[in-house]
Amino acid sequence: MKKITAPDISALKGQRKISMVTAYDYPSGQIADEAGVDIILVGDSLGMVVLGYEDTLSVTMEDMLHHTAAVSRGARRPLIIGDMPFMSYQPSVAMAVENAGRFLSRTGARAVKLEGGFPFLEHIRAIVDSGVPVQGHIGLTPQHVARFGGFKAQGKNARSAAALVEEALALEAAGCFSIVLEAVPDEVATEITERLSIPTIGIGAGPNTDGQVLVYHDILGLFDRFVPMFVKKYALLRGDSIAAIGQYVEEVKNGSFPAQGNYSHMDADEFKQFKTLLRERV
Ligand code: KIV
Repeated sequence: MKKITAPDISALKGQRKISMVTAYDYPSGQIADEAGVDIILVGDSLGMVVLGYEDTLSVTMEDMLHHTAAVSRGARRPLIIGDMPFMSYQPSVAMAVENAGRFLSRTGARAVKLEGGFPFLEHIRAIVDSGVPVQGHIGLTPQHVARFGGFKAQGKNARSAAALVEEALALEAAGCFSIVLEAVPDEVATEITERLSIPTIGIGAGPNTDGQVLVYHDILGLFDRFVPMFVKKYALLRGDSIAAIGQYVEEVKNGSFPAQGNYSHMDADEFKQFKTLLRERV
């Protein structure tokens, strides 16, 4: 089975829509792969939906490498993108190149994503030159939550919308193979998508981007602490999981689990010998 590459993703622009989903461990990587997604992003949303932080700012490179490697063991066909966490690339170009490289050499990821535009063009150029494909990410960039004053949609007025278009063009020129557009109006996403020759992947950016991305736990209804309006839940597994584990608890209490078939018996001769041994020894 041929693994999807970053150039394969770029080539899909104008051919068909691209599906991307986050995953954070072996089973979610396997499930996303078997469901047929094109790209798995091991997002730093890990911090919120898996590690229980308020935002993504506490996620470390070690967290990301650990989880990306687990996803890679589960997913064979999709392109796996490692999300560069807060302060893993911002301080310097050299640090950005080194940490991007660690995703490829240690986890099986074959591209990285990083948040931000104009301030990081040099970082992106250097990472791409070192051999690592880069996916850009503009609009609502959660690592800027402190500066934005919350998880707020971006590009809603003419000036900030125009700046986003300029930033997207600059990211393409810096060498990105695709760009995530998060929580920007449909009009802005449409304009950017039409102007770029690389694919745009939207989340809360309307139907006209080249692809869509959603967080695994949101799609499956596993996370209810914070549900943005752009999320569509395709299942309600949190409720189903609580019900299933609740039933297990009940059955343990009332003795109906384990039942015949959930455990084994010794054969009769072994049991006899066992009892004899016990009488002799204990
Ligand atoms: O970390 C993440 O999950 C993301 C996506 C929402 C694009 O950056």
